[in-house]
Amino acid sequence: MKVSLFKDERTLARTLAGQIAQALAEKPDLVLGLPTGRTPIRLYHELGSMHAKGQIDFARATTFNLDEFLGIPSSHPGSYRSFMQQHLFSRVNLSPQRINIPNGTASDPAAECARYERAIADAGGIDLQLLGIGTNGHIGFNEPARELAGTTHRVALKASTRHSNAALFGGDERQVPEEALSMGMATIMHARRIVLIATGKSKARCIQRLVHGPITPKLPASFLQMHRRVELMLDETAASALDA
Ligand code: F6R
Repeated sequence: MKVSLFKDERTLARTLAGQIAQALAEKPDLVLGLPTGRTPIRLYHELGSMHAKGQIDFARATTFNLDEFLGIPSSHPGSYRSFMQQHLFSRVNLSPQRINIPNGTASDPAAECARYERAIADAGGIDLQLLGIGTNGHIGFNEPARELAGTTHRVALKASTRHSNAALFGGDERQVPEEALSMGMATIMHARRIVLIATGKSKARCIQRLVHGPITPKLPASFLQMHRRVELMLDETAASALDA
């Protein structure tokens, strides 16, 4: 696993945005996998600034988000669709037809999961999957468990995950949906290239376990150790528990 350290979040976001611009220049129809959460916000705004300066072109790119809450419409201000609209989609020239997010109001969630997997396959698979990481080691909404799901699936959210998403629901974690649809571990691991970004002291322990610990479903991100082309981009605090 390649580990890259940055002095602060801003430098990390700028570097990664530059790499995404380069990947798009080399392959304009790039297929990107995208996370929500606090961590990628700076990156998304940086991509927006680069687009405003004519430095990046998403016209032919396709995106697949990792996950979406179940039971709220995409127009709900707490939905991940709304989050993406606010922080990225409204700032760059992605074609709406090539933006993909699981449908959290599908009448048949299992069929929606199967449709999402097929859509990823039909797009040729994910070229570059961006990831954040939960303090409990989750990626997407693949929560620590005895067994992990391979493909896009319906998942019950842990109390800690609902707590960390409370800000999207007026600070009230009871308003956070109890379930979500998420790409599975195989969906993520099939991406040709993966970049996981982590910033802040709260991520130091799970990053230490991800890099130095065993591969275990108790820390879903530990499976990334088996991927051929994965890079961790960390700020100094997130890297602070790593062996020198
Ligand atoms: C959300 C997602 C999650 C987040 C993780 C970290 O789409 O995939 O796995 O990446 O919960 O969230 P933040 O960045 O808010 O710490």
